This record gives sequence, C-alpha cells and structure tokens, in this order.
Amino acid sequence: MARSIQEIMQQASVIPVLTVHDLAHAKPLAHALFDSGLRVIELTLRSPIAVEALVEMKRAVPDLIIGMGTVLTPGHVRLCVDSSVDFLVSPGLTEELSTAMMGSGLPCLPGCATTSETMQAASVGFTAVKFFPAEQSGGLPWLNSIRGPLPDLRFCPTGSISAELAPTYLAAPNVDCVGGSWIAPSALIAEQNWAAITKLAKSATQMGAN
Ligand code: 3PG
Repeated sequence: MARSIQEIMQQASVIPVLTVHDLAHAKPLAHALFDSGLRVIELTLRSPIAVEALVEMKRAVPDLIIGMGTVLTPGHVRLCVDSSVDFLVSPGLTEELSTAMMGSGLPCLPGCATTSETMQAASVGFTAVKFFPAEQSGGLPWLNSIRGPLPDLRFCPTGSISAELAPTYLAAPNVDCVGGSWIAPSALIAEQNWAAITKLAKSATQMGAN
C-alpha cells in the first residue's frame, strides 16, 4: 500500500535501526519487533543479505513497514525500487542521490546534519529528514533553532539516541519519531536474544510522540 513519509512517521514514535547478517535472524527479529507493538523499522544495507532479509521479514510479518537504510547511491535506490521496500533512508544527501530518491516514487527520509543540508533537502521537495547524527550535530538545541527558519519540516533524529534520551527528543514539536540501534543492537541479534529485544521494543512502544 502506498503511503507518504508523513503517514509512515506517524505510525512510529521509535524506529529501530538494525542490520541483519544472518537470514535465519530475519523472521524472529521481525516478530520480536512487530509483536511488541513497533510498526516501522529501518533495515540497513550494511550487509550483503540486506535485500533477502527484507523479503524474509516481509514474508514473516507483511504489515511491518520496512525502510531500507544506509542508501548511499542511485544504485542502492534502484535495488530498493526492485524490492518490496516501503521507504528509503539515507545518512546524508548528495545531488545524485537526491535526484534518484526523488525519482524513485518511494517515500524518503534523507539524512541531514546541518542547516544548509536541510535547506537543500527542503528546496528539492523533501518534507521530512533524518537528522543524523543527531547527538553529534547539535541535538535538541539544533532542532529547536531550526524550527524558526524551517517551521514545516518534520524530523526523525537518529544517532547516539538512547532509551533515556528518546522521550526528550519526542517532546520537540518538529519531531515525529526518533531512530536508533538501541532497540535491536547487533550484539543481541547475533546472540538471537529475542527476549531482550522484545523487552527493549516494548519499552520503546510506550514512548509517544508529541
Ligand atoms: C545508523 O544509521 O547508524 C543509525 O542511525 C544508528 O545510529 P545509532 O547506532 O547511533 O543509534
């Protein structure tokens, strides 16, 4: 079902950012997150089996909304368009990536870390951005400052956001959701510790956006 990036962000206060290195982990991980109440995830391309993992997760939990993350090039965008990905996420934005993302027909969450980058993203028509790396790039004070000049832009801050910090970000008026790897860290996925991931995911579902 086609959705806008706003509709996707409204379904998620917290977007787990995760990487799957073993296809056997895809199904139990999708269930641990979705059954805990999370509806949207960012699955990174930082694994050779990322696309297979996406297909496997979708097969296991068709209603899980999966954004492909770490999209860096037009080639990555093409790879995603040919798969069943729901939206695209990038850590930053080059001119060629911007053109490819805009032309993909998919909802997009491009990465921006500065005012100029955010202005460039807004000027080509992006309505929401991943503020990345959030903590390292000015965090909440930056988000508050950008509201004056760019009042309509929506943000998904990501980068060194913890369970403790997430609620403070979610309280910001221009933040729809936050992203982070703390819900499904690589070490817990490698251990197949679905119980621990379920616990972290359940606590993330309790965090409401403003
Ligand atoms: C990323 O793309 O690496 C993510 O944004 C995760 O950031 P975090 O590990 O700092 O939460």
